[in-house]
Amino acid sequence: MDKIIINGGKRLEGTIKISGSKNASLPILMATLLTDKLCSFACVPYLYDVKTIISLLTHLGKTIKREDDRVWVSSSGNICLEAPYDLVCKMRASVLVMGPLLARYGKVKVSLPGGCAIGSRPINLHLDGFKKLGAEISIRKGFIHLSAKRGLKGEKIFLDFPSVGATENLMMAAVLAKGSTVLENVACEPEIVDLASFLNKMGARIFNAGTNIIEIHGVKELKGAEHSVIPDRIETGTYLLAVALTRGKAKILNVNLTHLEIVIAKMKEAGVEIRFDDSTMEVSASENLKPVDINTSPYPGFPTDMQAQWMAFMSVIPGESIIYETVFENRFMHVAELQRMGANIRVKGDLAVINGVDKLSGVPVKATDLRASAALVLAGLVAEGETSIADIYHLDRGYESIEKKLGQLGAEIRRES
Ligand code: EPZ
Repeated sequence: MDKIIINGGKRLEGTIKISGSKNASLPILMATLLTDKLCSFACVPYLYDVKTIISLLTHLGKTIKREDDRVWVSSSGNICLEAPYDLVCKMRASVLVMGPLLARYGKVKVSLPGGCAIGSRPINLHLDGFKKLGAEISIRKGFIHLSAKRGLKGEKIFLDFPSVGATENLMMAAVLAKGSTVLENVACEPEIVDLASFLNKMGARIFNAGTNIIEIHGVKELKGAEHSVIPDRIETGTYLLAVALTRGKAKILNVNLTHLEIVIAKMKEAGVEIRFDDSTMEVSASENLKPVDINTSPYPGFPTDMQAQWMAFMSVIPGESIIYETVFENRFMHVAELQRMGANIRVKGDLAVINGVDKLSGVPVKATDLRASAALVLAGLVAEGETSIADIYHLDRGYESIEKKLGQLGAEIRRES
């Protein structure tokens, strides 16, 4: 198993470029199941999760070519309507096959997703929505069987929670349904907007994506399209914090500022200097930073995917700060590892109280989930001595060449197999 070794204490300085968004790429690549025609993409990141979804799409009958950040998806002619356990358990986003396959073929069989470190992550909102669109659902021997013999019919659907995945799955199911669908209380994340933009290029008729009410008028069929994936806002936020935490100064290219407004506001409140022009961001931080509380919540609130990284940042800023995690029920797995490095953190239910310490110490730690491992990298960058992070396959799921990018900024970081 690979591990990452970091010798902390270096100020990060220089320029890096942000890759395409993981959480936009996954649903967008899945949407190619809605057509047999050629779809081509730019800015697709080189990530473990993207590799997994390419294996899944190949299994389902797609032919996929990849060159640098470009990807071409066409149909091999044969179609399989089953997403197997060995692929679904690697990546929960595999459940996004349900919407497109149900819409296009009226039938799909998906392995129930396995457990997940950050919470139970049920898919009841996805399944309830499919039922409202006319699908029959049965769960047998670890598989979900969905069918809609007479096709799907547009409906008004209210989500109990603005679930990102449920919004994406139901949007992809509704684009070929008979009549119109209104999805209410849906997720407003930029990744939803990017998926809707790609679907509309394919000929779908989706309105008001990015707001909490999305309207979809069903069409007969969808054609191929070209699309460039939006920059990854969580990767951007992670590198902004890496520079701030090491009191460095850097330029970050290929950033969409509007996708990060609350993170930038919170960083400025902590005393980080952030300037931008067009898609380039300049970030720098001096010694006197101050602690800032955060509550995670659905977009445009503070992203839960930045919570662990924020905790690493607060761990080395003098004073008390509070983090309230409201989206996932078990997203403090990074706390124990940060405490091993000397962080002063107390957890009470969904609340974490952090008292910044003068220094963290580099020790062997273990990654537990994607963003927890990012938090450990950030802590290692500023810790005294050597931090070794095991199980970094978690990290490779969501960060493209992280040791290369941080090395470009002057970090002393290497990967050991
Ligand atoms: C997406 O996961 C992201 N993943 C997650 O990013 C992100 O943390 C999450 O949205 C929230 O922003 C991708 O886009 C691939 P949800 P998703 O459905 O769709 C509950 C990362 O680090 N819920 O919005 O699975 C659920 O349990 C990953 O990049 C139900 O109860 O998130 C959770 O508490 C981690 N029933 C909350 O909603 C459902 O049917 C948010 O889940 C669906 C969700």
